[in-house]
Formats: sequence, structure tokens, C-alpha cells
Amino acid sequence: MSNRQNCDSGSLSPLELYERVTTQGDKVRSLKAAEAPKDEIDTAVKLLLSLKLMYKATTGQDYKAGSPPTDFTPINNAPAITEDDDFVDPWTVQTSSAKGVDYDKLIVRFGSSKIDKELISRIERVTGQKPHHFLRRGIFFSHRDMNQILDAYENKKPFYLYTGRGPSSEALHVGHLIPFIFTKWLQEVFDIPLVIQLTDDEKYLWKDLTVEKAYEYAIENAKDIIACGFDINKTFIFSDLDYLGMSPGFYKNIVKIQKHVTFNQVKGIFGFTDSDCIGKISFPAIQAAPSFSSTFPQIFKGKEDIQCLIPCAIDQDPYFRMTRDVAPRLGYPKPALLHSVFFPALQGAQTKMSASDPNSSIFLTDTPKQIKTKINKHAFSGGKDTIEEHRKYGGNCDVDVSYMYLTFFLEDDDKLEQLKQAYTSGALLTGELKKALIETLQPLIAAHQERRKQVTNEMQALAQALIEEDHGE
Ligand code: TRP
Repeated sequence: MSNRQNCDSGSLSPLELYERVTTQGDKVRSLKAAEAPKDEIDTAVKLLLSLKLMYKATTGQDYKAGSPPTDFTPINNAPAITEDDDFVDPWTVQTSSAKGVDYDKLIVRFGSSKIDKELISRIERVTGQKPHHFLRRGIFFSHRDMNQILDAYENKKPFYLYTGRGPSSEALHVGHLIPFIFTKWLQEVFDIPLVIQLTDDEKYLWKDLTVEKAYEYAIENAKDIIACGFDINKTFIFSDLDYLGMSPGFYKNIVKIQKHVTFNQVKGIFGFTDSDCIGKISFPAIQAAPSFSSTFPQIFKGKEDIQCLIPCAIDQDPYFRMTRDVAPRLGYPKPALLHSVFFPALQGAQTKMSASDPNSSIFLTDTPKQIKTKINKHAFSGGKDTIEEHRKYGGNCDVDVSYMYLTFFLEDDDKLEQLKQAYTSGALLTGELKKALIETLQPLIAAHQERRKQVTNEMQALAQALIEEDHGE
């Protein structure tokens, strides 16, 4: 082991180097504590110093114990965040604030960049399209390397989109649509290929589900995703359980990624412990692989250097921080990212919605009546307790879930602003704001249900066609 440390540290990532420095520091301390022979301590100290130098040369920063390099900050067990109330990883989102997670803090902690006015106007300039209301309203609020994507678009260089879903239940709720609605807009604006990964394997590993059930959910969820209206000729949806076993391109990239990420790293990033099954420990490589164009030789004709743009909710970022860290060592471009906020539960913005609690969200299978009842009964209100007080002091849009939902689904900026003003001033009552939401969601969900009915066979045929093409590769 110590020989390896000497000879290959030149090709290490910032995080690997950081870990080597930390381990070596511990070693020096324990040698000193054990009063080991002087020359042994000296050798260990020398190695520590050279690792620190290498760390500085690679990251441009001095090594600081307890603060890993910024593009790659572990989020679960980093002591620096224990006094923080918000907790975000791919499986848990928790905050004590009714306004929801503090996203500016998250940008700092994750080392991503804010989607600011300047970037939004550049998107508008470069594409000639009015930016989607998810961008204008800060619903997609953070990014990595989006400027590179816009450069590529300006220079007519190809790139592609990648997003996904873990099929943990049969019916999707409206929050699940957010990344797909936005991805559809991006596909339209840029006119580029899109791959959609359904991680039924992930859900089998994490949840109490059989393989068969997880696959069944993937097939059902794919119908809802197709119903969002992607360009059928440029979109490839696949279930991991189905597709992975028949794609050599995919599997080759998975093992390449697996070879370049250590157990220590995934422990740091995802909080895995020694008692997690090895399926979980190796899964991140499976979610990372579609970020590289060589994973899909049938789509990209074997090209390895086509950059990928990933729209996703911010809780998926740990996967892609890992991906971006290994990419250069595999000779692949780092994927760019666009991050969205979480969709709040009806009961309040403290947590992400749960597909297993029917009252925590509006499902795509809900009837108009169910939508109405759920919103009236369960949507957390920022209004005052009595009509008199409400008229006098006004409602609070920052914590009102009906208002939050309207920012996602009511496209008309003027109407949204009017509602906000009227609610804040007290002129509009909670019941009236809820009515505006009900009237926005009912037709939207009915239209979705209609489109879903029509896609069934078409989507099966499409996915199948692409898989067969890959067979012949
Ligand atoms: N892990 C994601 C989930 O549980 C699914 C997923 C796979 C994904 N690949 C992705 C999400 C790429 C966004 C982008 O929902």
C-alpha cells in the first residue's frame, strides 16, 4: 500500500489526495505517539509533506484538516455541517424551516454556482428563447459548467441531455414532473438527444421491493415520463434491470468508474457504512455512467467526447460530484449540471414529498375531486387564523404551500404576481388562493392523464428499437 502511495499519487483526484494527506497525517501522529524510531517518523513526515505539496499543486489550496476540496465536499459525515439544520442527501431532505431548505447555503456547501440573472440572460441571448419560468423563478437555481454548454451550442458542438428517476412507486406525484418538464423544454430549445435512466436496480437495493416489482414500476413510470412529450426520435428511456445486461458500452464504463472510486470516497460522499450491502456501494457507478457518451455507442456512434448536461434535483448532486471527479481520469468530459429546488410536501416545505404518503402530494392519477379535497384539507396555509386578522395582516407567501405550488405550475407571471400581492395584503383569503391552485392543477393533470393513455404502445416500441440497435453493435 505505501509503495502505491508513492508511485501513483500524481494521477490522483483532489479528494483522493486529500484523503491520502489525512491518512498520512494520522500515521505520523500514531508513530510519534508510539515513540517509533526516528528514521521511520522522518520518512513518514517526508511523505506527508510531499503529499501536502501535491495537494496544493492540484487544488491551488493549502491542505486544511476537516475541510475537503470544494468541488467534492462530503455531505453526510462532514463535521462542519452538524450545527446546520438542513440535511440533504439522495435519500433524505430535512430542514426545520417552514420556508424550506436554505438553497444559498447549499450552493456554498456543494461548491456549485448560482444561476444568476447574467446566466439567465445569456441563455436567452444564445437560444433566442424566453427562459423557462423554472429559470426565471429560481426553481432551477444552481449549476455546474452551464456556460460551457452555451459555448458548445454557440460553436455548434454537439451535447446531450441525461436525467432519470428511481421508480419507487407506481404513481408519480406532481413534484416528480419538475425535472422532466424542464428537460423537455431544454430538448426543444437545443434540439438534442436525451437519455433517461430508470434506476429500478437502485430502488430494489434501497427499498423493500422485489426485482420484479421494481421493474414493473419502471415500466409504469416510463409511461408518465413519455407523456411529458419528449421528442420521440431523440429520446432513449431505459430500465437498468432491463438494459444494462445487454449493453457492453454501458458495462465497460461502469467498471472503469468502479476502478477509479474507492470505498473511502463513497463512504465520504454517500455516508455508506461497513454494513451496507455491496450493491449500494457500487451503485453510484451505474448512475454515473450515462454521463459519458461512450455508454451509448448506438446513439453517439462510438464518440467519447460529447458533453452531457444533467438537469436534476439538487439531492442527486453527490452522484455527479463523484462523476465529475472521475471524468478527467477516464479521459471524458465532465458533465454539466442544472439543479432544481425540492418540491414541497402539501403539509409544508420542511421535507421532500413522499410517494408512500398519499396525502403528502398530488398524484398524477388523482381525480379532479381528489385534487380539490387534498388541497383544501392538507395544503399548509400561510394565512392568518381568522378572517379579520388575515384582512388586517395579510398572508405569508414564503411558507404557503398553495402559493409555492403555483410558482411551479402557473405559467402566467402577471397572474402569479397579482395573487401574491392580493394574498400578502390580505385582500385574498386562503380559500381563494387554494381555489386558484385547484383550477391550475385540475386541467394540467387531466391533460397529462389523456396523453398517458395514448403513449403506452408507442413508448414500448421506441425503447425496444434502440435496444435492438445496440445489440448489433
Ligand atoms: N437516483 C435518481 C432517483 O432516485 C434517479 C436518477 C438516475 C437520476 N439517474 C439520474 C436523476 C440522473 C436525475 C439525473 O430518483
